Amino acid sequence: MLVEIVIFLLTFVLAYFYYTYYRIHKFLRQKGVKFIPGLPVYGNALESMNNRKHVIDEIVEIYNAFPNERYVAYIEASTPIILIRDPELIKAITVKNFDYFVDHRQFFPEVDIFGMSVFGMKGDRWRDMRTTLSPAFTGSKMRLMLPSLVEVAGYTVDYLKGKVNLMILEHAGEEINVDDLIRRYTNDVIASVAFGLQVNSYKDKDNEFFRVGRDLFKFTYWQYCVMFLYAQAPFIAKMLRLKMFTGKGVTFLREIVVSTMEYREKNNVERPDMIQLLMEASKGTLKASQVNNEDNVGFAAVEEELKPQGQTRKWEMDDLVAQVFLFFTAGFETTASSLVLCIHELALNVEIQEKLYEEIKIFKNTNDLTYESIGKLKYLDCVLNETLRKWSAAIIMDRECIKPYELPPPHEGGKPYRLNPGDLVYNMVNAIHLDSKYYPEPMKFNPERFSDENKHNIAPFTFMPFGMGPRNCIGSRLALMEFKVLLFNLILNFKIVKTENTSTTLRLKPEGFLIKMDKGTFVKFEQRQ
Ligand code: HEM
Ligand SMILES: *[C@@H]1O[C@H](CO)[C@@H](O)[C@H](O)[C@H]1NC(C)=O
Ligand SMILES: *[C@@H]1O[C@H](CO)[C@@H](O)[C@H](O)[C@H]1NC(C)=O
Repeated sequence: MLVEIVIFLLTFVLAYFYYTYYRIHKFLRQKGVKFIPGLPVYGNALESMNNRKHVIDEIVEIYNAFPNERYVAYIEASTPIILIRDPELIKAITVKNFDYFVDHRQFFPEVDIFGMSVFGMKGDRWRDMRTTLSPAFTGSKMRLMLPSLVEVAGYTVDYLKGKVNLMILEHAGEEINVDDLIRRYTNDVIASVAFGLQVNSYKDKDNEFFRVGRDLFKFTYWQYCVMFLYAQAPFIAKMLRLKMFTGKGVTFLREIVVSTMEYREKNNVERPDMIQLLMEASKGTLKASQVNNEDNVGFAAVEEELKPQGQTRKWEMDDLVAQVFLFFTAGFETTASSLVLCIHELALNVEIQEKLYEEIKIFKNTNDLTYESIGKLKYLDCVLNETLRKWSAAIIMDRECIKPYELPPPHEGGKPYRLNPGDLVYNMVNAIHLDSKYYPEPMKFNPERFSDENKHNIAPFTFMPFGMGPRNCIGSRLALMEFKVLLFNLILNFKIVKTENTSTTLRLKPEGFLIKMDKGTFVKFEQRQ
């Protein structure tokens, strides 16, 4: 009996996939939207789903196959997604006509901690949460957080100098696993700026913060299945109320948030961190954001464009925990991967590293680093931007259409294409960053692209590491500051030296969505005199 049911179900599922496969192709041909025919079940995503290729490489290939189209289709398993290639059109979708594309695609269940975060929220709830959180990320808040970052960067330098612990001395000058080194830094930063906790992951190697952060992105097979189901058959996943993130990590973070809030409430403690801000938000006492643009010395990544609407909402504890969870995940992984890639590139490009040192060495020591002085490090800014161009963690800017919207024809003489509510678009990010039309010799690491002389060559909406429009990355200023503080400290104190294990063929690790080198990043840090 069981066998029959299984056979029946399998036949049903296969028939369903074959049906959608033919239907999608027929539909796209009719509409005149170009695509590369895929396989049933996998669509165009065979290699990324089987961990043979990074999803970026897969999307870039489709992008490159049709150089004259404004947009093309990408068949992700059995969902057709419109890939927007044209920067003008990206501007229309993410900024001008934002009201049609307010929401992100539902990658994660709504009942889940990730779905409840500002990244996953939709419509007005998102708008309210976004205005609630914005004051936490303004220039003046960053200024208050700078000392914590400088302190944590000091742990990294001390560790590398072998001062933390005599046992580590023998590692000075030895090959370092940069992935591990940097994840400890971003971990300690987020512990400090989000929770006001002092954690030194170089001394306390196996602290719970670090373990939780590291394991959050080690997706299990089950988690991949749930994610796949949400993407390809959301009605089933929703019916079953499947969750992605459960277990110890979530419980741990929740307990920290609740106990920290209780402690501060009882003892009247105030600190310049995100818990503080969320506490005010939960009482509904936090005023809607007033963004202070003059206070953005060197960190004006993307301008805030959202105007508060309606009154301030009161949030429940679960809502607050979800935001902390997001800061933790967003702050941990994305910033870390860009830093690692930057160090990798600097190890391979010695002249660039020396030029950076020339700029930085004017500051004799770390204490000279102020909010204003970081803003003046021009070449550092170029190096950082070039890293974010070549190795953007963004991949795509996904948007879900919420009101019928007509895209202009995909090419001269074509027909307009109508998007209906629920349809998905991916605005290209990495593919544009790597297009020789916008960036000649795109695989060359060349910070000069961003110099004052060359900057004007960068066309609008062709550099978007933090997304665009009202839904852009809320933490970009924090990320840039985190990045600059650490690089400043490393370059001032050390030469980054490549070894036989520093890979020179830069290939992305195909598993998952992270931007990591296939063979990892290993370099030596030689102390400067
Ligand atoms: C190099 C580091 C980072 C990169 C490359 C990055 C990139 C991005 C991108 C591409 C988006 C989506 C933008 C869009 O769809 O237009 C985003 C959203 C977001 N990021 Fe970041 N991010 C970084 C660091 C951070 C940090 C440190 C935080 C906070 C602590 C953060 C918090 C967020 C939040 C809350 C959102 C959702 C915003 C919303 O939907 O309203 N990010 N980020
Ligand atoms: C490179 O990696 C191998 C294997 O892990 C190791 O034995 C070797 O010592 C490393 N090379 C350097 C220069 O550290
Ligand atoms: C680097 O990029 C940011 C946006 O992420 C921008 O505000 C800044 O001006 C850029 N710097 C240079 C030197 O191009």
